Amino acid sequence: MAVFPSVRLRRLRKNDPMRRMVRETVLAPSDFIYPLFVTPGRGVRREVSAMPGCFHLSVDQAVKEAEEALGLGIPAVILFGLPPGKDAMGSGAYAEDGIVQQAVRAMKSALPELVVITDVCLCEYTDHGHCGVVVGEEIDNDRSVGLIARTALSHARAGADMVAPSDMMDGRVGAIRASLDKEGFSHVPVMAYAAKYASAFYGPFRVAAESAPQFGDRRGYQMDPGNAREALREIELDVQEGADIIMVKPALPYLDILAKARQRYDLPLAAYNVSGEYAMLKAAAAQGWIDERRAVLEALTAIKRAGADLVLTYHAKDAARWLAAGGLT
Ligand code: PBG
Repeated sequence: MAVFPSVRLRRLRKNDPMRRMVRETVLAPSDFIYPLFVTPGRGVRREVSAMPGCFHLSVDQAVKEAEEALGLGIPAVILFGLPPGKDAMGSGAYAEDGIVQQAVRAMKSALPELVVITDVCLCEYTDHGHCGVVVGEEIDNDRSVGLIARTALSHARAGADMVAPSDMMDGRVGAIRASLDKEGFSHVPVMAYAAKYASAFYGPFRVAAESAPQFGDRRGYQMDPGNAREALREIELDVQEGADIIMVKPALPYLDILAKARQRYDLPLAAYNVSGEYAMLKAAAAQGWIDERRAVLEALTAIKRAGADLVLTYHAKDAARWLAAGGLT
């Protein structure tokens, strides 16, 4: 009988070379997408308080940062903008010379091989901080979708390699696909934030992006944390509307959703290891309560093991360096 004592699983755990041979999930820098926050000015590199190691970067500095990431084997960045001003309609999101549009042009001309993805949303650009158009106290879905599609198109015109809508309005993936196709950008893929939860783990990002809602919260459009079946419906709709890559967000508190999505769908699957997940590990490491290298590589491995092909993570550069130096030894 194949049981103890003839079977001993410890045999293959004997030493590091042996463990490497039978490791089922192996991280690589090519799994990572590195988020960057772009701000107006020149030579600006301002650290985000709740996200040590992350910076508000002017376009020139963002290009340098992306070049460094590329040098570490990270193929892609995702850009978030901090516009010089905000208004009710989030017009900075779809301005021809908006901050993200400028950054895309600069990055694609300096680093043509870099995959430049843009986050498509209005929340960083609206004075009320919501991800869509506010009518009374409500977020008007269909008017928001129009502006979101317009934003995606302006990113594509600037040269973005991929657009990633994160607003969670109904129907936005289809609207973006239709407008890209109509305007000659049928080659630009859409990475849909398909199952995005209303999460407390976005706290540090909202400080970084100055995008906290000025009234109410995002529970009217982002998903309820208790729902798993609904996540599959959200993903299904985005697949039907033409998403090329689907995303689950946040990552670590939602590994079950990742695993379910992996089982059901054959599309590439991304996970967003969000700002709060990052901040927790950074804070514990700064206190000396946790070994940062081991904890980060373990967390990222877990996200991939649960089913993610791609991980959006602020740890990308550190993790790529640690992987080059031997990884989880
Ligand atoms: C906004 C957006 C958010 C994040 C990515 N895009 C925040 C939100 O929905 O409030 C979160 C990223 C993070 O926390 O790291 N459209």
